[in-house]
Amino acid sequence: MNMNLMEVCKSYDLPVEGVCGGMAMCASCQVYIHTDKHFGERNDDEEAMLDEAYHVKSNSRLGCQIPISTELEGAEFELAPEES
Ligand code: FES
Repeated sequence: MNMNLMEVCKSYDLPVEGVCGGMAMCASCQVYIHTDKHFGERNDDEEAMLDEAYHVKSNSRLGCQIPISTELEGAEFELAPEES
């Protein structure tokens, strides 16, 4: 279905806003990755957005920048707190 992690969270009514619709411009989809699996590096837009976001940790990613694939099988994520 070519979805990303933010979209899947929203489809399950998890508290993810996804304000910018997945354009790496809001950080409302921030997640913490709790697995040793590697899902690629943060891209430049993602890195810039996380530089301005709150509650950022070394394992932070923007959910909208993580495409759903078989590599996510068994992966554990935590939703970051809301920005305010
Ligand atoms: S939905 Fe806006 S940065 Fe991911």
